[in-house]
Amino acid sequence: MATIPADRSPESTLALLRDGYRFIGARCNRYDSDIFQTRLLLRRTICLRGRPAAELFYDPERFQRAGAMPLRVQRTLTGRGGVQGLDGAAHRDRKTMLMALMTPTAVRHLGQLLDDEWRARVPVWEGAGPVVLYRELGRMLTRAVCAWAGVPMAEGQVVRRTDDLHAMIASAAAIGPTHWRGLLARRRGERWLADLVDRVRAGALPAPAGSALRVIAEHHDTQGRPLPRRIAAVELLNVLRPTVAVDRFIVFAALALHDHPAWRQRVRDDDETTGWFVQEVRRYYPFFPVAAARVRRSFDWQGYHFPPGRRVLLDLYGTNHHPALWPEPELFRPERHAGGRPDPFGLIPQGGGEHTTGHRCAGEWITIELMKRAVTNLTSCMRYDVPPQDLAVSLRRLPTLPPSGFLITNVRRTA
Ligand code: HEM
Repeated sequence: MATIPADRSPESTLALLRDGYRFIGARCNRYDSDIFQTRLLLRRTICLRGRPAAELFYDPERFQRAGAMPLRVQRTLTGRGGVQGLDGAAHRDRKTMLMALMTPTAVRHLGQLLDDEWRARVPVWEGAGPVVLYRELGRMLTRAVCAWAGVPMAEGQVVRRTDDLHAMIASAAAIGPTHWRGLLARRRGERWLADLVDRVRAGALPAPAGSALRVIAEHHDTQGRPLPRRIAAVELLNVLRPTVAVDRFIVFAALALHDHPAWRQRVRDDDETTGWFVQEVRRYYPFFPVAAARVRRSFDWQGYHFPPGRRVLLDLYGTNHHPALWPEPELFRPERHAGGRPDPFGLIPQGGGEHTTGHRCAGEWITIELMKRAVTNLTSCMRYDVPPQDLAVSLRRLPTLPPSGFLITNVRRTA
């Protein structure tokens, strides 16, 4: 049996914070291997990247999610007791509940709600000074997803709720005040949504049939029990929080349109090229660096031994930039997505494998729909200038975003 190449450093947590998205890829290059082992957060960890590794990682016979996610991530980003940490029948039951929300009609409806928000905001931007796109998008997406999910949202609450959802996303890899802000936001968010679940169950709050609030409040698990109110709130947050996080991908789409202006013309009124463009934004720009799992029971793979319980990280960013899968991976080239369905283990910004039976992101279709609508709005419905600003995308910041949040000025309606 071959020995898995070991990282030089005995504990790599600081290196992960320093190297960010390049942490795994840099070491894979150094050891000329798509697998190596290290210690992260004081636990022995195997790191993997590439297509064969993704196919392995999404085999539920070999890996489990229980106990894989560091506590600091659960306390801020994902919550505790949600679908992300479940395995087997319990996971299938919870995931089926979430995927039932993602019908093509429902996905289009959410897209329409974002279009409506866009139409309402452009006249406001026309008369305003510089607009920070990231800040505007967060609020627009909060309004849209709450309306879609059946969650009542007074206009006066929008800013605070958006800030809390943003704080959960920004705080998992942070230390100090940013992390504490995420802890507080999660506590407040779970309390808010657990109260709404109570009211729906008591018949005091009507929630539309098929809405996330109603479906989750009325769900019964495999043993016929309703979800505990806090867990129901965690799952509702699993719908609201990542939908608002699509604002980051939309900012990256705006940045890509700015850096590659020829694509403004190519995507205009063309659903197919808009689709390629959106896939390339999801491949090229960094969002979630890794997915985490634990070895269920020992096995051997490519001559390497995986002991039971060992934590394994799959490099999502590194796989999306792997030269064996993506020729000239550091070039932004939407046409590489022309023709054919994306490889379920090759393009993995939102995880790989299957949506219902595995842990692949439940909201991938929503993400693509919202991004396509946003690209159409940015190119066909408005014109704007992009003034000088800091648009650098740091690969050291987790999660990253251009520091300016993408400023636009001189907005004009064109449709
Ligand atoms: C901003 C764009 C998004 C990104 C980058 C993203 C990324 C991811 C990633 C990397 C995973 C983990 C995959 C794994 O553990 O193997 C995941 C899981 C998940 N995502 Fe997303 N996501 C996004 C949007 C959404 C949206 C819009 C929703 C819901 C409306 C959503 C709901 C979920 C849920 C519920 C899971 C857990 C799935 C499971 O464990 O079975 N995500 N996402």
